[in-house]
Amino acid sequence: MKQLFEEVNLNHITFRNRILRSATWEGIATPDGGITEVGYKIYEELAKGQLGGIITGFTSVADNDFYMDGMMRLSRDELIDQHAKLVKLLHKENTPVITQLALGGYYRQKVNGSFKEVTVNDLTENEIEEIIQKFIHAAIRAEKAGYDGVQIHIAHFFFLSRFVSPAVNQRTDMYGGNNENRFRIVKAIVEGIKAQTKKLHVTAKINASDFIPGGLEIEDSIELSKTLVASGIDSIEVSGNGTSVSHIRTGRNEGYFVPYAQQIANAVPVPIIVVGGFRSKDMMESVIQTTNIDFVSISRPLLREPDWVKQLAEGVSTISKCISCNACYNSPSHRCVFRK
Ligand SMILES: Cc1cc2nc3c(=O)[nH]c(=O)nc-3n(C[C@H](O)[C@H](O)[C@H](O)COP(=O)(O)O)c2cc1C
Ligand code: SF4
Repeated sequence: MKQLFEEVNLNHITFRNRILRSATWEGIATPDGGITEVGYKIYEELAKGQLGGIITGFTSVADNDFYMDGMMRLSRDELIDQHAKLVKLLHKENTPVITQLALGGYYRQKVNGSFKEVTVNDLTENEIEEIIQKFIHAAIRAEKAGYDGVQIHIAHFFFLSRFVSPAVNQRTDMYGGNNENRFRIVKAIVEGIKAQTKKLHVTAKINASDFIPGGLEIEDSIELSKTLVASGIDSIEVSGNGTSVSHIRTGRNEGYFVPYAQQIANAVPVPIIVVGGFRSKDMMESVIQTTNIDFVSISRPLLREPDWVKQLAEGVSTISKCISCNACYNSPSHRCVFRK
């Protein structure tokens, strides 16, 4: 039987246990994507928390991406050293680290020099190819910085999530019209990264469902997962739109994406990570021991208590103090409002 606290070896990475930190945008990078001292401090604190592994907050692959404030970037070679410093902090504590590569939106430069966001439907094929190459080059930089892996962000209606969604993508060319065409972009990204990097673990975060009319349903997400596996993906993290559900009660609405993640785990041969609302050791243990899901991942509990997993391992805590109020989304550096 799988155990929550056991080492797991996966394609070049040894995870200390089966609890991962899910990507959590800190919003503190400089406008050009540089990592600030506050950023390093956040990861230094997490590194000491005995997590199985850490996935960084979303890191944009592009300079021309103004979707969110304070995004880290891996869009230029000059940023590699700063990421190498972050990786070193985590490796010093034997914690593997995966960087979440994302595009918020594609912004086209106008003749007057200003930028305007272009919708999924208005992108030219050349711009789509440019985006594919940006993801591949960011992954190559991630490997140079020493990251153990990269996670392609295809969830939460970020750019790729909108692109694969029939609710948004109305294209009539080879990138739209059916799942095969809508998924072509992520297939090219994963295949490209696999071909051009040596030993990066390549994972993806996906929506199990878009939870909107005309959006991806679980059957489509299973098809997307199969496409990712055929492209060489090493693991898949299952999330969904409406990601950070509020007012979670232990034992009631914890682990709200588990039933979806189980369906995906039944359909594909790669390890599955499930995120969303884990607040107790009992719930996480039960998912690991009684389902075919391999990892659980958490975000808000670590904003509340960065060492929560250490506390669980040492038997000091069994339940997170996070009350899922979501006030951290609006606080400086997304710090939990209940922390001093
Ligand atoms: C402040 C904040 C920032 C987040 N940033 C990201 C992000 O960068 N990438 C991502 O995929 N999910 C992000 N999420 C979503 C979390 O990774 C997670 O999927 C969600 O909060 C549910 O898990 P939880 O109940 O353990 O918090 C963020 C959540 C919060 C609260
Ligand atoms: S502000 Fe604190 S308690 Fe509220 S959701 Fe965020 S981490 Fe949890």
